Amino acid sequence: MGAEAIHKPALDQFSVQPIIGDYEETCKDFDWETAKDALDWFERDQSINIAHNCIDRHANGKLADKVGLHWIGGDGSEKIYTFKQLKEETNRCANLLKQIGIAKGDRVFLFLNRIPELYIGTMAILKVGAVAGPLFSAFGPDAIKDRLEDSGAVAIFTEASLKSRLEDVRSELPDLKHVILCGEHDAPDAAKGEVSYNEITAAASPEFEVERTSIDDYSIMHYTSGTTGKPKGAVHRHNSIISQKSTAQFALDLQDNDIYWCTADPGWVTGTSYGMIGPWSNGITQLVYAGGFDPDTWYGIIEKHQVTVWYTAPTAIRMLMKAGDEVPKKYDMTCLRHICSVGEPLNPEAIVWGKPIFNQAIHDNWWQTETGCIMIANYPPMEVRPGSMGRPIPGIQPGIIDDEGNEMPPGQEGNLAVRPGWPSMFQTYWNKQSMYDSRFQNGWYLTGDRAYKDEDGYYWFIGRSDDVINTAGHLVGPFEVESALVEHPAVAEAGVIGKPDKERMEIVKAFVALKDGHETSDELKEEIRLFVRNRLAAHAYPREIQFVDSLPKTRSGKIMRRLLKARDQGLPEGDTSTLEEF
Ligand code: PRX
Repeated sequence: MGAEAIHKPALDQFSVQPIIGDYEETCKDFDWETAKDALDWFERDQSINIAHNCIDRHANGKLADKVGLHWIGGDGSEKIYTFKQLKEETNRCANLLKQIGIAKGDRVFLFLNRIPELYIGTMAILKVGAVAGPLFSAFGPDAIKDRLEDSGAVAIFTEASLKSRLEDVRSELPDLKHVILCGEHDAPDAAKGEVSYNEITAAASPEFEVERTSIDDYSIMHYTSGTTGKPKGAVHRHNSIISQKSTAQFALDLQDNDIYWCTADPGWVTGTSYGMIGPWSNGITQLVYAGGFDPDTWYGIIEKHQVTVWYTAPTAIRMLMKAGDEVPKKYDMTCLRHICSVGEPLNPEAIVWGKPIFNQAIHDNWWQTETGCIMIANYPPMEVRPGSMGRPIPGIQPGIIDDEGNEMPPGQEGNLAVRPGWPSMFQTYWNKQSMYDSRFQNGWYLTGDRAYKDEDGYYWFIGRSDDVINTAGHLVGPFEVESALVEHPAVAEAGVIGKPDKERMEIVKAFVALKDGHETSDELKEEIRLFVRNRLAAHAYPREIQFVDSLPKTRSGKIMRRLLKARDQGLPEGDTSTLEEF
């Protein structure tokens, strides 16, 4: 998608104001040491624990009786936890983990819907010094297996409605010793390492000695998709809380009395960095809604619970837009003070649409799983430039560079890069150190995005520099989908691309060549679609399939996705000198 297409149509509908003083002042005075001092360090020996700072610090102080988590179920039921209650619950859960033998550094995953145990479990894992790996509940058996196998996870939290997907691949996961069953479930099978969360935590002590993790001890890992190979586990460390706490103030503008709602699932980085750590490290009350998307329900939640700060995604905003202007008119949303969005380009039309509905502009911001925190934002005191991701967060030094690492002048498109060293920078790709190292060149961290900077230092997104697909804010690696496709008995080979889509930014499109003896048909298309959906994930299956006789490949046999994309969109095919056949 070109930058022009993103920002041009609506620019004239906004008066672009000069940046007001606060931004420059804040940047000038900012240093990470000051941000660090706002947290609770165990001793003056660099030891810090995210869960202690998110929960216990408040439970032990003035905020003990303040609501930390206001949970709303898909059926409208509600549960409320004060910071004191969160401390006790996370302690009970941490004692459960100790009881089954979880030790510092162990990888413990969570395959749960957005139930309270997902939030409590993540904090408990951090309290014992283990590494938390939240999985998106839409994942199918293949996606679960890839992640648990690669990380060598020893334990997993799950629940009755999701368990069968884990069971499908359990025999291929020798490292996985323990399954912690949350909610209502059948009798645990001890031979399979199953234990009951409710049973054990009911008897567990509400006291727990939090592990004194160092700044470099690993905290959370999220798998993220690249162009080639399976998803890679981006690993974060306890030090990351410094960035998450300060950016939750700078970009999300979180203030003491806020009611904050982040719509992201903790299976993705937004749901942990800003669906847990950012708000809680600031002692903020946060709302979690466990149900799915529905315009009336969403607007209703804002009104009923008096949400003041809302962090959501462009696809959700486009879907609200699609539902029409009559729906929001039924709700009083004057409580909203600040709205942010992340994950995909936020088109100016969405900002223009949202302004009268929410009485303010939606603030786009940019970051990645690897960065761990917001890096570029339409920072609250600045006027939003529709279509721009905003300006760098204090302490963050991005740049637009050419392939040799030279900075490009304003207005010129290049690679979006960031000077390494911010506290929440990822520490490794699990088991793939060389891939991690390859992301750092000439003193820059390479983000994989293309962008440009304007004269005033605002950054404008242009697109990815690789084949990774961004569908509704979720990154999908074409290789993963191709691998799932060729497991279908009728599929000989497959090439997968992102196809532009008005609502989801891109959809996954697959070009499929069948094995001899199989006929193309709509039924087969549907069967293949479902096959991938069930094995991989509900968000990653090809919504569109096109049968082809064969795929364009390089002489070394690599599928030329670039060419598939160009042909699909009627764009110039570029250099085809390495093309072998179609
Ligand atoms: O391509 C950029 C896009 O999402 C990628 C990061 O995805 P992920 O690691 O899943 O993290 C998503 C949530 C932090 C980026 O490399 N992206 C993210 N924010 C924006 C964006 N593209 C355009 N505009 C944004 N604001």
